[in-house]
Amino acid sequence: MTAQPLPESAPGRPGDPLRGAHVVLGVSGSISCYKAVEVASRLVQAGAIVDVALTSHAAQFVTPLTFRSITAREPYLDMWRPDGEAGEAHVELARRADVMLIAPATASTLARIAHGLADDFVSLTALATAAPLLVAPAMDAQMWEHAATQANVATLRERGVQFLGPLSGRLASGRTGMGRLVEPEQIVDAVRARLGTQRGDLSGRRVVVTAGGNREAIDPVRYIGNRSSGKMGYAIAEAARDRGAETVLISTVSLPVPVGVRVVAVESHAQMMEAVLRECGQADALVMAGAVADYRPASAADHKIKREAAGDIVIPLVENADIIASTPTTSTRGTMVKIAFAAETDDLIANAVSKLKKKGARMIVANDVSATDAGFGVDDNRVTILNDEGVREDLPLMTKYAVGHAILDRLRPYLQNSLLGA
Ligand SMILES: Cc1cc2nc3c(=O)[nH]c(=O)nc-3n(C[C@H](O)[C@H](O)[C@H](O)COP(=O)(O)O)c2cc1C
Repeated sequence: MTAQPLPESAPGRPGDPLRGAHVVLGVSGSISCYKAVEVASRLVQAGAIVDVALTSHAAQFVTPLTFRSITAREPYLDMWRPDGEAGEAHVELARRADVMLIAPATASTLARIAHGLADDFVSLTALATAAPLLVAPAMDAQMWEHAATQANVATLRERGVQFLGPLSGRLASGRTGMGRLVEPEQIVDAVRARLGTQRGDLSGRRVVVTAGGNREAIDPVRYIGNRSSGKMGYAIAEAARDRGAETVLISTVSLPVPVGVRVVAVESHAQMMEAVLRECGQADALVMAGAVADYRPASAADHKIKREAAGDIVIPLVENADIIASTPTTSTRGTMVKIAFAAETDDLIANAVSKLKKKGARMIVANDVSATDAGFGVDDNRVTILNDEGVREDLPLMTKYAVGHAILDRLRPYLQNSLLGA
């Protein structure tokens, strides 16, 4: 079988590095092979062109037919097909791969790759490709912990192979221990992040994003908060990660951590301020999507305020410092570009323009949080982006991930002036 031609266009979200990427998915003979089907499916849905290579043992667990149905491409299994076409398919496959992923990777396959053996389609392609190699091992804890496996893992790591897991948890044997395959969603995100680092236009940049609203303590169990869900900040962080930026997400909420993003958990305004100032000291840009508390209780009670004892109570509030205005516009990397957010219910644009100036930001992203189809809590947003040169752009309703890319598209020109250049 010769390598199959690549299709012209692919589905998936604009800005997703998996869109149009050529992924070779190697599958080896583990009980968790069934999860490779979901990995293939998620990759295809993201717009990747997926060529599956199976070991003969993997084909005992899942048939090539399953992968063919999901990827709409003929899987690679037999190096010695009688039609004589198998010949150089692996070389062509290896050459065209943007990334190779082996999931699940058995102890045996890890050993073969570590020792340069190439006696099946998976190990052969892994040896023949110059593309980054990611492996997601799955095996029983005894096999993972065995000195032979650990030596192979060390060899492969040293050669730049990226390991995804394994995780500790319940294993097929019924025991609990190290050796569980990382979940398909995380595996696919790791491939996405790796492609972003390789090819993204923010590769080498460091971007700090804030997400979620502050909680300002009244007493040990109560707080003053706001309705920010954090979804906008998480979507911007994902977009920055997908464009190759080293991304730090300073978050007050506990949404699933995007693979490849470093999350700094905070709660109060004071904690967020401290984290922003620290992280921005070595950053190229700050995107302040978090909903910062403007006020906090003048003092937090150190015990729960009792209803009977209190009657009506008045909580005096004191003003918090403006985090983004307090953040310097330079860092160890040169220019530190600040992007503010304005969530308003009235006079959206007038308020945004005055905030842009006060905060020393290069751009402000204004959104009307009184709208029901956009803003707090939902997956979509409708924003207006204003910059410090007076340019105003009203963007249509789009996903928060797409808004993230729209913001980063406009950040790019400002970064050209920083120390690292474009
Ligand atoms: C039911 C069953 C489940 C297996 N599960 C695993 C596994 O999860 N991980 C592993 O490393 N080997 C597992 N093995 C052993 C491998 O299939 C065996 O080592 C095989 O030679 C691997 O070959 P391959 O890497 O070429 O696919 C399993 C074997 C059987 C029979």
